Amino acid sequence: MKGIITSGWGSGTRLTLAEVPAPGAPGPDDVLVRVHAASVNPKDWKINYHIAMLATPLLVKRLRPLFGDDLAGTVLAVGRDVTDFAVGDEVYGMDMRLRTASLAEQTRISQKRIASKPPSLTFAEAAAMPLAAQTALQGLRRGGARAGSRVLIIGASGGVGSFAVQIARAMNCHVTGVCSGRNSALVRELGADEVIDYTRGDYRSSAGPFDLVFDVTSFESPRSCSALIADGGWFISTGGDARAMLGTPLYRLTGRKATSIVVESWRDDLETLAKMVAQGQLKPVIDSEYELADADAAYRHNRAGRSRGKVVIRIP
Ligand SMILES: NC(=O)c1ccc[n+]([C@@H]2O[C@H](COP(=O)([O-])OP(=O)(O)OC[C@H]3O[C@@H](n4cnc5c(N)ncnc54)[C@H](OP(=O)(O)O)[C@@H]3O)[C@@H](O)[C@H]2O)c1
Repeated sequence: MKGIITSGWGSGTRLTLAEVPAPGAPGPDDVLVRVHAASVNPKDWKINYHIAMLATPLLVKRLRPLFGDDLAGTVLAVGRDVTDFAVGDEVYGMDMRLRTASLAEQTRISQKRIASKPPSLTFAEAAAMPLAAQTALQGLRRGGARAGSRVLIIGASGGVGSFAVQIARAMNCHVTGVCSGRNSALVRELGADEVIDYTRGDYRSSAGPFDLVFDVTSFESPRSCSALIADGGWFISTGGDARAMLGTPLYRLTGRKATSIVVESWRDDLETLAKMVAQGQLKPVIDSEYELADADAAYRHNRAGRSRGKVVIRIP
């Protein structure tokens, strides 16, 4: 079957279309999926960069990272213990921990990590959702978002942010989105009550306070945002970045609420998101679509840091 193989590390990473071994029959708890679309997440290239920096050249030579977690596709076969899915079902999901390896015509994935694809979405739109929309949902919940909460979303125009604005809106929060001026109209259309253009000066001492500051750029820390956070409010980060990882536990020592989240794919959450799509509360924003053969260009585009919504890869 056709799939993407990676070579090189750090800035030398290349993604190339190749003939790769098919995944074979699904395990007892897995389904085999014909992947129709996947999507790009910054974590793939970031992890690749971090390994390149931290691992010894010997280890780096032995590792072969598989890019691609999100998928939308059709079930080709089911394992012995799978009862909720059948051949021909259209599904979407991802498995970040085990790596979905979705940049390929077929892959295997646990039945726990997928749900029925929202019927109104194309495969490309559905593939845009699992990682980013679940991050948004899980981050908002972790930060206690509820009706009336004043929520600040930093990075409101990106993959995670564009979902977070819509989900916070659906929760009846009062939503403020931070983005650059070119994306202000988009963020308003997604449902933000207020928009802050971060290119017009440092808003971190003048805006707020907010019950939840949700930083989905991973650039901020509880300290850099402390003036934005209301008494008893939360700082939630998607950061794998050192400042966020070190900053949030230290901040917690002072008795305040801060954490970095790591997204997990759960059928319940995917079903909640699918329901929101069906109710017209959620719609993926697609920055661009690439063919599988152009996966390298898709990742280079995302690495530039300016994606509006999600970059999607079609696997015809
Ligand atoms: N921990 C987890 O489980 C988890 C899960 C998902 C994502 N993440 C992390 O979360 C981050 C965001 O992911 P993503 O998929 O949303 O990335 P993305 O789509 O690539 O984000 C790009 C967006 O970031 C905006 N942006 C860049 N600099 C900004 C700034 N200083 N202030 C506000 N917005 C800014 C850009 O808007 P402009 O062009 O307008 O600047 C662009 O729309 C990444 O670091 C990713 O690794 C972590």
